[in-house]
Amino acid sequence: MGCGQLKLNVLLIGGGMISEEVIMPTLFQEQREGRVGEVLVATRRAATIARLREVFPGRRFTGYPDPARVAQLEESCPEAFREALAELEHPAAVIVATPDHLHTPMVLAALEAGFDVIVEKPLCLKVREVYQIQEAAEAAAAYVYTDYHKRHDRAVRALRYRYRRGWLGELLHGHAWIEEKKEIPLHHFRRWAHESSPFEYIGVHYVDVYYFVTGLRPKRLVAFGQKKFLPSQGIDAFDAVQATIEWEDGSVLFVQTAWVCSQHNSALTNQGLQVLGTEGEYWADHKDRNLHFVTDRGGYEDYNPNFFKAYDSWDHPDDVDWVGYGYESIVQGLNDIRRLYEETAGLSGEARRERRRAIIATLAESRPLPNQALIGTAVNEAVRLSIAHNSRFVGFDEKMYPVLL
Ligand SMILES: NC(=O)c1ccc[n+]([C@@H]2O[C@H](COP(=O)([O-])OP(=O)(O)OC[C@H]3O[C@@H](n4cnc5c(N)ncnc54)[C@H](O)[C@@H]3O)[C@@H](O)[C@H]2O)c1
Repeated sequence: MGCGQLKLNVLLIGGGMISEEVIMPTLFQEQREGRVGEVLVATRRAATIARLREVFPGRRFTGYPDPARVAQLEESCPEAFREALAELEHPAAVIVATPDHLHTPMVLAALEAGFDVIVEKPLCLKVREVYQIQEAAEAAAAYVYTDYHKRHDRAVRALRYRYRRGWLGELLHGHAWIEEKKEIPLHHFRRWAHESSPFEYIGVHYVDVYYFVTGLRPKRLVAFGQKKFLPSQGIDAFDAVQATIEWEDGSVLFVQTAWVCSQHNSALTNQGLQVLGTEGEYWADHKDRNLHFVTDRGGYEDYNPNFFKAYDSWDHPDDVDWVGYGYESIVQGLNDIRRLYEETAGLSGEARRERRRAIIATLAESRPLPNQALIGTAVNEAVRLSIAHNSRFVGFDEKMYPVLL
């Protein structure tokens, strides 16, 4: 079967913010372009499916739990995704977009059911779970891609390109900041903010960026966290978390994170990165891309055209084209999975698994498959450990398990 012929069916597990704002528009666009077939969406509550039908009128997807078959729309059905998995037909991919602490059992269930997986970052919250996922994926000869979409931002790719060609010399230090509005823990993540933190949820992006750019591994870190505002709102979660990470070459990255910024901020996310090397520096505000709107409808808004925005479609006059690194990252995972089906067509059993393993081994060099997603998870776990021990230094053993120093 030639490239572009195969239609992947996709099961999306989760129907929250990232699903509604990025993943589903991406899947419907891919469906329109003939690269995705059936779309299945599994959430915890039928009410979420009902809401998504209103958000995407006229789009084709099967929802679990089915609002027509539950006694109460708000009833919690944490296992509904298993019914969807049982009904998903090859060729297919599973996308896991549930809260951070729920990724592992869902990824493992998808692998056990025989599917390749795309999972929202972070892959999971514990190094032990990365190895569990990696072993299950290797046994099944399956692909597990973590959606570290900042790797696709041209502002980050530019740094990698020039750093790898020696323009910055040897790195000395860097500063990354990523902070979101209060609505995230107060509204969107109210049910699970205490299970995560602004570092685990978004700070990890810049840990992965530093690793993606340099290929360096972290050596040790020290972290701090503050709980001042959220506890006053009945949420036992950190307002802000900071970590200073020393890497194996002795360079240091300070990462500053929060999710209690003012609702009057000019974008959902303050974010940027500054890096100094022996031969030059990189300095990028990833929020202020030097483009803003001021409108009666939206007030003042910094507008990031790189992330995930709708533009008038070139070929579908009544529709839009979604463009940007949010789109490209998910599509890279979908295309890799389509390639795995296409290049193993006609093979079965061990021959198929061997061919898949060979392709996956090549992809693992340049993609956040578990061997690379390990770094973000290890740093997340170490940050938590450091804070739990009054900001002690934490190092890593040879398998990247955090160790108190
Ligand atoms: N790539 C990115 O930059 C990016 C951006 C935002 C969020 N994320 C990640 O995506 C994931 C989801 O984030 P979100 O913003 O959509 O969160 P959210 O809280 O808005 O949504 C989570 C969804 O998971 C669903 N869910 C919970 N338990 C479930 C279960 N047992 N079965 C089926 N569905 C279940 C909930 O119903 C909800 O729809 C998180 O891991 C988050 O860190 C990534």
